[in-house]
Amino acid sequence: MESETHEPAPDEAQAPEPERRPAEAELEAAESEAEAESTAEVAGAAGAGADTAAPPVDKPAEAFAPDEAEAAEAAEAAEEEVEAEPDEGLEEDKAAAHAGPARSLDGRRVAIGVDIGGSGIKAAAVDLDTGELVSQRHRVPTPQPSAPAAVMASIARLIKRIGAEVQLGPDTAVGVGFPGVITGGVTRTAANVDPGWLDFDADAAMQRVLRRPVHLINDADAAGVAEMRFGAGVGRLGTVFLITLGTGTGSALFYNGTLVPNLELGHMEIRGRDAEKRSAAAARIRRGISWKAWAADLDEHLLAIERLFWPQLFIIGGGVSKRSEKFIPRLTVRAEVIPARLLNDAGIVGAAMAADERERSAG
Ligand code: BGC
Repeated sequence: MESETHEPAPDEAQAPEPERRPAEAELEAAESEAEAESTAEVAGAAGAGADTAAPPVDKPAEAFAPDEAEAAEAAEAAEEEVEAEPDEGLEEDKAAAHAGPARSLDGRRVAIGVDIGGSGIKAAAVDLDTGELVSQRHRVPTPQPSAPAAVMASIARLIKRIGAEVQLGPDTAVGVGFPGVITGGVTRTAANVDPGWLDFDADAAMQRVLRRPVHLINDADAAGVAEMRFGAGVGRLGTVFLITLGTGTGSALFYNGTLVPNLELGHMEIRGRDAEKRSAAAARIRRGISWKAWAADLDEHLLAIERLFWPQLFIIGGGVSKRSEKFIPRLTVRAEVIPARLLNDAGIVGAAMAADERERSAG
């Protein structure tokens, strides 16, 4: 059993790729089932996720890695996600323009949360006291290339849609979860987004574009903050990690509920390269490997973290947390491992909370 969980071929050179896909599509696949779910919501077809999809039949079986059925399922899920990317935005914009007056939020404390992902940018208005979304969750595809100006234009459009739906005050803050390090409102790394974000004064630029208070926060930190407050981490003391698996692997460290920001454990070196190249959800899809083989790679990453930090708990977030039965039982770390609870919403909710906190501490 043990040996089965450790593929002899962790390197991509040896792992068969099911089929060449454009790099863009590979990235899009990364957000996994979460994206399928959010699109289903827009289409009014909740529940029709990849889980129920028929296996694809158009690829030769020998093109797949060890567990053919699972690899096929992964490829199918990836393609669905890619296809599920039509920009329904324009239709939604038109609908919003014809909708009635924006709904009042009756004195609720609200901020807008935005989550910049590899394939989609999602946003909603969030009740800061309950963590509930008080608008629809809106989504547009991440522009390619994902340069700051284009991403900011997409965010402006999302906020316009939210504003057409619920009444926002001029001071309603915006929190933006970003897939990289942020210090002092400046984006410092850009592993999976356009290099134009390197050392970009993002808080200031977004405040100019959106004309409201804006604060960026690392996306994993945002998801962690939300899970600790409203989700799987409620009441959990000691050392807790939120590991988010999407285009990259994000990590957020909490000690007795306090966040240590910008921990970049996705970029630990394992087997001579960035750990996220094997442990991210995108890695499973890109390499066309089985859940089992991918779980072994993820396990290796978690074991490396465990050796250094000895956490009590790992909370696994990202779209794959919906399929936790496929990989959590295969992990061998000592710490407890549980799926995140807020799924798709954690990044949005946590970004909104972080923006509110920054605003309050600023003044
Ligand atoms: C980035 C992290 C981010 C993670 C998940 C990594 O490549 O460096 O900052 O949290 O991806 O998006």
